[in-house]
Amino acid sequence: MSSIKKCLFPAAGYGTRFLPATKAMPKEMLPIVTKPLIQYGVEEAMAAGITGMAIVTGRGKRALEDHFDISYELEHQIAGTDKEELLNTTRHIIQRCTFSYTRQIEMKGLGHAILTGSSLIGNEPFAVILADDYCVAEGESVMGQMVKLFEKYQCSIVAIEEVPSNETYRYGIIEGQEEAEGIYRISNMVEKPGPEEAPTNLAIIGRYILTPDIFEIIEQTPPGKNGEMQLTDALLVQAKQGRVIGYKFRGRRFDCGSVEGFVEATNYTYARQKR
Ligand code: G1P
Repeated sequence: MSSIKKCLFPAAGYGTRFLPATKAMPKEMLPIVTKPLIQYGVEEAMAAGITGMAIVTGRGKRALEDHFDISYELEHQIAGTDKEELLNTTRHIIQRCTFSYTRQIEMKGLGHAILTGSSLIGNEPFAVILADDYCVAEGESVMGQMVKLFEKYQCSIVAIEEVPSNETYRYGIIEGQEEAEGIYRISNMVEKPGPEEAPTNLAIIGRYILTPDIFEIIEQTPPGKNGEMQLTDALLVQAKQGRVIGYKFRGRRFDCGSVEGFVEATNYTYARQKR
């Protein structure tokens, strides 16, 4: 049993970069080959021993709930045919996990989305997966690696990777002391800095483990970049107390929030499935 029991999935965003595909469909339902992005995220959490999935949705996102449910009509139709096994992965998830949902009424940033999810989490450390960062790893899943690290450090953990310096403006950027190979004790973090303000090129990617005091900190943190409630700013409060670790994970991440990253992830996954 994992020390982290719940994973929060902020999934209320509009996905405007994928219009018109995302006009009537949640961006988290975009498939990489035949599986929607959100399912890869849920499977990664499960691989880390997590069974409580908490999803922050918004208007037009009902397909997410339907996806993690039984479709009697469909199952009846394909029962006894060779198509039946195609639903095995979702059946397996539904049998093992519980799903809870809440709606984010207004989009006020990632910090706000996390705060909206607090009623689904309660007072315990929890994982966060941003499904449009699609992560693959040989062996242990990225979240599985992070849960192990949490067991050792007992503080918030953010996944990081090096990005080209002309791309820092797209990420939260960290600075810190490398305590062990690929493990940084974070001292500073900045949300989406330009190349001049970026302290390093170590970018946060969409995998976090957060201690529950983060909720109160988010509430007390003034709006940051773009006038939004930024998780990065709230994490900085914990970082100043030496309570945030940056972890260069083993594996590869595709930015499926961009069309290029999405196509790359699709090609990569398709090629591997054919092998
Ligand atoms: C969010 C965070 C940012 C992080 C990124 C990872 O930004 O605010 O710090 O680097 O996720 O994907 P978003 O991509 O939602 O703009």
